[in-house]
Amino acid sequence: MRPIGVAGAGTMGAGIAALAAGAGIPTLLYDPDPAALDRAPEGPERTGELEALAPCGLVIEAAPEDLEVKRALFARLAAIAGEDCVLATNTSSLSVTALAAGLPHPERVVGMHFFNPPQKMRLLEVVAGDASGEAALAAARAAGEAMGKHVIDAADGPGFLVNRCNRPFSLEALRIVQERLATPEQVDRICRMAGGFRMGPFELMDLVGLDVGFAVARSFHEQSFGEPRWRPSPLVARLVAAGRLGRKSGRGWYEYPPGRPADPEPPAGVADADALRAAGVDGIHLVPPAGRLVEVTTDEAERLVTAQGVHAERVGGPVLGRIVAQLINEACFALGEGVGSAADIDAGMVLGLNHPRGPLEWADLIGPAAVLDQLDGLRRDYGEERYRAAPALRRAVSARTTLAA
Ligand SMILES: NC(=O)c1ccc[n+]([C@@H]2O[C@H](COP(=O)([O-])OP(=O)(O)OC[C@H]3O[C@@H](n4cnc5c(N)ncnc54)[C@H](O)[C@@H]3O)[C@@H](O)[C@H]2O)c1
Repeated sequence: MRPIGVAGAGTMGAGIAALAAGAGIPTLLYDPDPAALDRAPEGPERTGELEALAPCGLVIEAAPEDLEVKRALFARLAAIAGEDCVLATNTSSLSVTALAAGLPHPERVVGMHFFNPPQKMRLLEVVAGDASGEAALAAARAAGEAMGKHVIDAADGPGFLVNRCNRPFSLEALRIVQERLATPEQVDRICRMAGGFRMGPFELMDLVGLDVGFAVARSFHEQSFGEPRWRPSPLVARLVAAGRLGRKSGRGWYEYPPGRPADPEPPAGVADADALRAAGVDGIHLVPPAGRLVEVTTDEAERLVTAQGVHAERVGGPVLGRIVAQLINEACFALGEGVGSAADIDAGMVLGLNHPRGPLEWADLIGPAAVLDQLDGLRRDYGEERYRAAPALRRAVSARTTLAA
């Protein structure tokens, strides 16, 4: 078996190399910084010389996120390794096509996008650049599977599949807060207790770092030449300008410590959606499947929900339904643009980001027609292109078909 090489022994590279070695694959780990090699876990053979990767059949680079650094690294690797050696990049945001440009045999360059931490997250996106050859893509898939990953195929483009499809989770939440329909605490609580997400969007932004998230948001907007769905939020720009970068700076949307207040503890049950609907009361915003919290906009709705022993969250307008509708819409755009298959989109969001279910499965649960109605309503109310419905969603509704695989 030819060894796998990993170039870059930081957060991602060290984890990927440990994973490959743990799967019984001979693995060589290179980093120009001896301290990074010292910190890397046991398992792979550590090398301070890139030339040591010459016998590899696949090299995965996890060097810093800089196009010129990665291009220079690939150029050196192309000269050192055999011309059939697959060169894979773990980049999150650079174009695989751009990284391959100018290299001899660009057909051997592919993306292998692991999620952090690589030993724990089950997903791997294999990304095809414009020049990527079928043999290189198949080799990347096989290596990922040998490392125990669920492999999905993604096209090259902003955020590939998973990070692109997750854009609305923060962007729509930010719009809702900007419009003062709910506070960040409320949006987070609604996403966790009604939506089943492990973390709300604002907690997640604080964890990732608002400066990092803002740079990603700008990059999406620039790479798409101003797609309105991907317009960065002025609220985040203001927090970044104030130095409120999230956990790492001690303050972002929340303060650290003491952190956010604990959730209200409702009785264990979930809302009885049928009973709430049967009551025929306005101001109840339910998103299937019902959770331990229901959004309400009137006193009467609040009384009815509270009487069920479920937490009623008083908001100025739909929160979860709007975020989920935009997640579904983005997934439908991705589907229509050939970014990934329906099965890969749903698997990607669950395994890569711990979403409670895939967006297309969620669309079928809510009903594609109801999702389309909500989007058309938002488009009408706001007059904004960001709410235009994806053609794939409109077609599914006209043809009365489901969306999930
Ligand atoms: N951190 C994440 O959550 C995450 C998730 C998915 C993908 N990625 C991507 O993985 C890549 C690495 O990210 P990271 O978080 O591990 O960064 P990191 O800063 O932790 O590690 C980068 C490592 O690369 C080394 N390095 C510097 N120059 C090099 C060169 N010329 N050749 C080889 N190695 C070199 C550094 O010494 C360092 O050890 C980036 O492209 C990033 O976008 C990161």
